[in-house]
Amino acid sequence: MSTRITSFEEYKTVYSESVKNPEKFWVSVAGEYYWRRKWDEVLKWNFSEPDVKWFTGGKLNITENCLDRHLESRAKQTALIWEPNNPDEKGRTFTYRELYHEVCRFANMLRHHGVKKGDRVCIYMGMVPELAIALLGCARIGAIHSVVFGGFSFNSLADRINDAECCMVITADGAFRGAKDIPLKNVVDDALKNCPSVKKVIVLKRTGSDVRMQPGRDFWCHEEINNTHHDCHPEVMDAEDMLFILYTSGSTGKPKGVVHTTAGYMVFADYTFRNVFQYNDGDIYWCTADIGWVTGHTYLVYGPLLAGATTLMFEGIPTWPDAGRFWKIVDKYKVNIIYTAPTAIRSLQAMGLEYVKPYKLDSLRVLGTVGEPINEEAWHWYNDNIGKKRCPIVDTWWQTETGGILITPLAGITPLKPSFATLPFPGIQPAIVDENGKELSGNNVEGRLCIKFPWPGMIRTTYRNHARCRENYFEQYKGYYFTGDGCKRDENGFYRITGRVDDVIKVSGHLLGTAEVENAINQHPDIVESAVVGFPHAIKGWGIYAFVIPERERSDKEKLKKEISDTVTKFMGSIGRPDKIQIVRGLPKTRSGKIMRRILRKIAEGDTSNLGDTTTLLDPSVVDEIKAGAL
Ligand code: PRX
Repeated sequence: MSTRITSFEEYKTVYSESVKNPEKFWVSVAGEYYWRRKWDEVLKWNFSEPDVKWFTGGKLNITENCLDRHLESRAKQTALIWEPNNPDEKGRTFTYRELYHEVCRFANMLRHHGVKKGDRVCIYMGMVPELAIALLGCARIGAIHSVVFGGFSFNSLADRINDAECCMVITADGAFRGAKDIPLKNVVDDALKNCPSVKKVIVLKRTGSDVRMQPGRDFWCHEEINNTHHDCHPEVMDAEDMLFILYTSGSTGKPKGVVHTTAGYMVFADYTFRNVFQYNDGDIYWCTADIGWVTGHTYLVYGPLLAGATTLMFEGIPTWPDAGRFWKIVDKYKVNIIYTAPTAIRSLQAMGLEYVKPYKLDSLRVLGTVGEPINEEAWHWYNDNIGKKRCPIVDTWWQTETGGILITPLAGITPLKPSFATLPFPGIQPAIVDENGKELSGNNVEGRLCIKFPWPGMIRTTYRNHARCRENYFEQYKGYYFTGDGCKRDENGFYRITGRVDDVIKVSGHLLGTAEVENAINQHPDIVESAVVGFPHAIKGWGIYAFVIPERERSDKEKLKKEISDTVTKFMGSIGRPDKIQIVRGLPKTRSGKIMRRILRKIAEGDTSNLGDTTTLLDPSVVDEIKAGAL
């Protein structure tokens, strides 16, 4: 079988075969790679435990497939292009051979510092090449990487380090992001006050800002890597050995450590990358996501490198020094494929076309989006002004837990429909269920999106808490993986994701648990209780609306609100900062003490005409007060 589908007819045949005989299908894909030993069994699974294993008995190292495997034919081809935050700073490029050596050196440095197979390593960096190299360096020696987005605060970082019991943190003195210089090492220092498992910290010099180095614990990367050898024997991993942990927000409690394993993730990342984007040899591919999120893992690092592609990495933000930066980069490197988020598109759209007009954008061939539903207006703006109506837009639906894209067009191959993720990827069997878990057959149906058969890239567990994985994804609707998303299937069988149906919100494409934000707000000493809901936001998709009850009446309300914002930034990071804070006397609670979020959501959305039944509330009068004070 060819690894790339080239026509709609072929998609239909491949899809139907992939559903009829999934194991045969995935074997035909998996044959491509460099295995130290082939698998004994393709798939073992049940969704009740859940227990999912792909390619059991297989042995391999993913970095041999990302790097070594390409050295024969692609040693001199550019693997990674890096564009710095400041357009006046010189960028860097790495050929496959250079990247291979950098990764080997990094891996040797980790080994030298005692990191071994199965150890967890936290990576907390800005978007510099060493971040990608660090991921691969861990994978080379069988260490499990846990990347934490560089925008999270010390508290969020410490939670993640402790949950995974990381033995090492790889960080940098700071990170440049637009006009900001983020003091990463200081944040790490604060986090490590409460992280007993961390024995060593490797610090990359990037911004040159002043940092404190703790002797015996903290080491400069450039000094440590200096004398390491540029080849490194890869650890031979079992197919189901853990590759990485990535934390994602849930509707309750602390973030969950989503676990991905080696072989299945590899096969899925590569096969989806090639097919969705229809990558051609020689193309320049740019995924604008931060490696701190799953999109960066799968479609900036692993997928493209597995496919032998040239992947571009950008340190900065779309609006700095001005809102033309993305398009300037596209022209500079003659980018053929760009993969970005609807929130970025909407924010650039809002800045006006004068930032697009100076650029040719004629190298572009494929546009992609991910992270949240793309509204039709943004879709058309992207299509008309960036793709000039000649580039297919792949609206790719997936999740941290799915490891790779599940519902999507294949660029230029399958039909498009604005705001629809369209059709399932080969091997993916979606099901729409009603609230009772009954599958809705046929077209023109709406309900909750589940997947009914395993795919190689799927979540295996949540780190050190398998029960949580079961409860979160497999218990609600027996026999299905439940995504947490609402979904419609139209008259042609095209899927449209309508958004989350649980207590998480997608703010600028980032998943946030309302409980997590409430927890951060409640750190403010004067706040007794809070409730957080989402509200539709023109640029961010969803904004954060917080209802807070202070301990005592305060006349300086604006000051209190500012303090609350600062508290959230401090404990969680600025991504959790509320857009609106309403100070209230009470929250709408049932007699059993449960907050009726449905009411708060409606108020936050500005739809107070019909709040539904409020008679079960302990004190219905609070609703009128909240309504009267709504922002
Ligand atoms: O609600 C869906 C939304 O993002 C959620 C997953 O978020 P996260 O794990 O952070 O991963 C984001 C990057 C893969 C989904 O449950 N989502 C993601 N892509 C789309 C989307 N919603 C609609 N359309 C999409 N293309």
